[in-house]
Amino acid sequence: MMISKKMSASLNEQIGNELGAAMQYMAMGNHFAAESLPMFAAHFYKQGDEEREHALKISKFVLDTGGRVEIPAISAPKNSFKCAEEAVQQALDWEKTVTKQINELIAQAVKENDYTTQNFLAWFTTEQVEEVSSMENLLAMVKRAGEAGLFHVEGYLARQGK
Ligand SMILES: [Fe+2]
Ligand SMILES: [Fe+2]
Repeated sequence: MMISKKMSASLNEQIGNELGAAMQYMAMGNHFAAESLPMFAAHFYKQGDEEREHALKISKFVLDTGGRVEIPAISAPKNSFKCAEEAVQQALDWEKTVTKQINELIAQAVKENDYTTQNFLAWFTTEQVEEVSSMENLLAMVKRAGEAGLFHVEGYLARQGK
């Protein structure tokens, strides 16, 4: 095995976190679809797909380094939201939490002199900058538009092709 058992266990935990995010974003997509906001729905479904890809990416790394993948239990996502702002705020909070989780994984890899995992996780740090930034943007737009003006944000998302 190229990485420690402890590192492998932490990465397995992160696979669960990414899959939890995938389910949460899917639930948000469902919420927006039910609210007749199809571009918001498409945006969150796509985010969910990306989180699943993150889980797969980590799975592949664990397997490539000689570890085993054991997907942990994942708690149910939040399925209903009072308004678009609440959902997008929660998505932003989630991305900030994931950024911390990635930083903690890197801190562990540094402590173990594990350059293999540090190098692998570098991609995720770059990805988190993008994810936090785009969610902050979306939240600012939702706040500015207000619930009655969400139609304008739909237009923006449609133009972005997201
Ligand atoms: Fe992710
Ligand atoms: Fe994310």
